[in-house]
Amino acid sequence: MSETIPVLRGADAHRVIDPKVYGNWTAALDMFDRLRRESPVVRVENDEFHDPFWLITRHEDVMRISKDNATFLNNPRPVVFSFRSAIEFAKAVTGSNMLVDSLVVFDAPIHMKYRRLTQEWFMPKNLKLIEAEIKALAKKTVDRLIEAGPEADFVQTVAAPYPLHVVMQILGVPEADEARMLFLTQQMFGGQDEDLNKSGRAEMTADQITQLVAGAVKSFEEYFAALAAEKRARPTQDVASVIANATVDGAPLNDRDMAGYYIIVASAGHDTTSASTAGAMHALAQDPEQFARLKADRSLLAGVVEEAIRWSTPVQHFMRTAAEDVEIAGQKIAKGDWLMLSYVAANHDDSVFADPRRFDAARSPNRHLAFGAGAHQCLGLHLARLEMRILFEELLDRIDAIELAGEPKRANSTFVGGLKTLPVRFQTTTG
Ligand code: HEM
Repeated sequence: MSETIPVLRGADAHRVIDPKVYGNWTAALDMFDRLRRESPVVRVENDEFHDPFWLITRHEDVMRISKDNATFLNNPRPVVFSFRSAIEFAKAVTGSNMLVDSLVVFDAPIHMKYRRLTQEWFMPKNLKLIEAEIKALAKKTVDRLIEAGPEADFVQTVAAPYPLHVVMQILGVPEADEARMLFLTQQMFGGQDEDLNKSGRAEMTADQITQLVAGAVKSFEEYFAALAAEKRARPTQDVASVIANATVDGAPLNDRDMAGYYIIVASAGHDTTSASTAGAMHALAQDPEQFARLKADRSLLAGVVEEAIRWSTPVQHFMRTAAEDVEIAGQKIAKGDWLMLSYVAANHDDSVFADPRRFDAARSPNRHLAFGAGAHQCLGLHLARLEMRILFEELLDRIDAIELAGEPKRANSTFVGGLKTLPVRFQTTTG
């Protein structure tokens, strides 16, 4: 390998994929700032546990790669950073390198065929039809917060359960089964964090994490097979019925593809929005004046929501595979190479965002990449914004002031990350 290729090895390479680094946000941002400045396209070398990949940290490069879906594929290598043992395990179980096949791992032309099935359902015009239902869920959630007050953990009381209720409602999952869905999603996404994976183990090997995640996927598949049967027999207006009754090239979806579709909506739809909701409240609780301004002028809310999504960047990376030899920022990338798009780094690129660590609700334009870009750009982005707007309208109506009541803690996770606790103290408008 040529001397001119910037490479991270050993401890430096490990830090890029170390969940604990992401659990310490300042450390993660410092690391990405340094890399973006010194080597914006850097090769993270293999050790015995994972294949090498290129880490991309500049906004411009992450944007370009995301939009060029012909050159940068979501297959055949995993679309989320995975250890070799996890890939081998998935191959043994499913024959593919991911445990779940879904929209996010398909490329053209199949990807669009599947995306089209539900794309319309997630557009603002259709979401208007469920606004009243979301409002009712927001109201119930804020009732619960107020009952728990004047001090509560905002994540446990609001940010975690509310997006879960919304996504379960649109999937037609009965309320009685929600706790199980939460448990399984947290096992699947929070596999690296002992508080979230419910394993009771502080340190787990890559194999143990893989087993845990595989168990969660299997339980999801069983659950959704039964749900799909029900939605075929008695279709309703929800997205679960759309998926259960959809056809691709004239044939219904097979069980694995259908389960994959449910799993991506169920899982992508709540931990992400939980993280951005907690992020928004974190920013407001740290800055009571901002909360007061927002209470007085609701036209600022859209900016708060968008900035919270940038500032918290719930999905911290996705991976791509080069379909051909290509150059990025002067580095030669070979066909078949694996690339990590760091949305955290891109969203804190100071050539695009002035003072990027500052929460600035008036940021305009706010061209963040928290929802990705290109053909795979988040299917649920309108829903995520809508949920957050409705929740904060309800909170602003009923809460006069809010402040931090302790130190928030972030999850240790390289993929979907965010606060796992956010202690707040608040005054309600009546009390
Ligand atoms: C703030 C909340 C959210 C964030 C930050 C987020 C972020 C993302 C990102 C980064 C991607 C990949 C984009 C790319 O590869 O270019 C994605 C894809 C996706 N998201 Fe979201 N998401 C959020 C909420 C939601 C919600 C509420 C849903 C649905 C209920 C959802 C469903 C999906 C689906 C189905 C995909 C795969 C799309 C495809 O591959 O075509 N997301 N999301």
